[in-house]
Amino acid sequence: MSRIFMFDAYGTLFDVHSAVLRAGASLGPKALELSALWRQKQLEYSWTLTAMGRGGTVDFWTLTERALDFSLARFGVDDPALRDNLLKAYRVLDAFPDVPKVLGRLKSARHRTVVFTNGTHAMVKDAIAASRIGGYVDQVISVEETGHFKPAMAVYGVAARLAMADRPSDITFVSSNRWDVAGAFAAGFAPIWVNRTNLPDEYPDLPPMQVVNDLRGIE
Ligand code: LAC
Repeated sequence: MSRIFMFDAYGTLFDVHSAVLRAGASLGPKALELSALWRQKQLEYSWTLTAMGRGGTVDFWTLTERALDFSLARFGVDDPALRDNLLKAYRVLDAFPDVPKVLGRLKSARHRTVVFTNGTHAMVKDAIAASRIGGYVDQVISVEETGHFKPAMAVYGVAARLAMADRPSDITFVSSNRWDVAGAFAAGFAPIWVNRTNLPDEYPDLPPMQVVNDLRGIE
């Protein structure tokens, strides 16, 4: 039976740390720590703005730029050319190696594949084009016009409607972000947690229906 497979983008399909790996050689040993802070701040800004009811005032790309500026300053890096190159690299992040094959398999089995992301349409379009997975993605849904970021309950509702699911539970929601899995569970989706880096579980009252190491574990 055909199902809707809905994928988070950043961290799930695209490796957010590949920007620093590609363009951050001059950062030396602090590169990965800076990359982790960049990601953490990007997410923090999206959550705090949403909690304040101001999620519609700034888009995810702007938050990505601001998070990088904070992270560079925090590590004492003042290098406009490096900043520029890191942001350019973030537009063309690597897809994880398991992504094209699994999306292709789901398409061959006639399932519907949807990307649902806090990222802007422009960001995700660039990332999908760069990793050449456009042929495997039926639909891209961004929170961009909703005025909120995940994990606001409202945006999962919008995604279910735009994906034309009869019921939220018809959506197999795939994310490597445990907070996003928790949100999807709360919204009634059937979530799969892609635990790529062997993290301990959290949000015990909002569990995934399945845990996999990478997308190949998806049934
Ligand atoms: C996404 C980020 C937040 O929604 O992972 O794609």
